[in-house]
Amino acid sequence: KKVAIIMGGYSSEYQISLVSGNVVYQFLDQNLYQGYRIHIFKEKWVYVDDNDKEYPIDRNDFSTTVNGEKINFDVVFNAIHGTPGEDGLMQAYFELLGIPQNSCDYYQAALTFNKRDLLSVLKPYGIKTATSCYLNLGDEINVDTILKTVGLPCFVKPNKSGSSFGISKVKSKEEFLPAIETAYKEDNEIIIESFLDGTEVSVGVINYKGKVTVLPITEIVSENDFFDYEAKYLGKSQEITPARISAEMTEKVSAVAKKAYEVLKMSGFSRSEFIIVNGEPHMLEMNTIPGLTTESLIPQQAKEAGISLTDLFTNALELALN
Ligand code: DAL
Ligand code: MG
Repeated sequence: KKVAIIMGGYSSEYQISLVSGNVVYQFLDQNLYQGYRIHIFKEKWVYVDDNDKEYPIDRNDFSTTVNGEKINFDVVFNAIHGTPGEDGLMQAYFELLGIPQNSCDYYQAALTFNKRDLLSVLKPYGIKTATSCYLNLGDEINVDTILKTVGLPCFVKPNKSGSSFGISKVKSKEEFLPAIETAYKEDNEIIIESFLDGTEVSVGVINYKGKVTVLPITEIVSENDFFDYEAKYLGKSQEITPARISAEMTEKVSAVAKKAYEVLKMSGFSRSEFIIVNGEPHMLEMNTIPGLTTESLIPQQAKEAGISLTDLFTNALELALN
């Protein structure tokens, strides 16, 4: 089967996505699948062969033509973090074209990529979150009112982004407006959250061979102020799998992550982040196109569960095709 591995994207996360996509390409089961690296950039959509030669993608049917021969893909492996891969746009496009793909559906992608909307939908199901305020570009910013609600320190985040781009931990009132400016560089919506002082854990939930499966949980201990870009990708954190939490707590966090997956009718990958405060998991967000670099958490968690990268990717493609 011909697999289009889509990577790149239009957001600040494009470089991470290229690494994720190349890991997928490298570990695809060669007996079952023939991988094609497809770069999706604003300027161009192209198939890139092993000699880095580029062939344009026809956006009418997502085909490409190599030496006069037209290639149609059987399935898509989505490795684009951020827009347009993680926010539902590509999902909707492939659904319209009738090409199966491994990620969740467009609605779940759009919903989960919007931190504010995701957390609002999950709240009535008893899933706890930080105290938060929201801003849209152009809104009047009443600093005192916001800080009274969330307290200090607090986090200022773009509402729709990933890999911690645009996120600041704000410790004083003076740092607040510059943090807002930084966040607006990534998105025109902002979420401001109270600081949760607890243990940070990352929980992968996937459909594995037809069953919703929680992978071993990772505990994150950042050397920086929080799990920022440097901590995520440049080694400035310890990622401990399985997390050093009690069996009871493991059960509890797993149940919350699984519940979120099920109430949202998710499919494919998900990786949710929580801070455990006084024995209660508080959800920060859910990633539906989680990083697949060698530094990334889902590959670490799968390894701990005895699932190789090749198995993980084969499973994802089989579910997409069935
Ligand atoms: N947004 C990054 C890639 C992640 O969730 O792993
Ligand atoms: Mg994220």
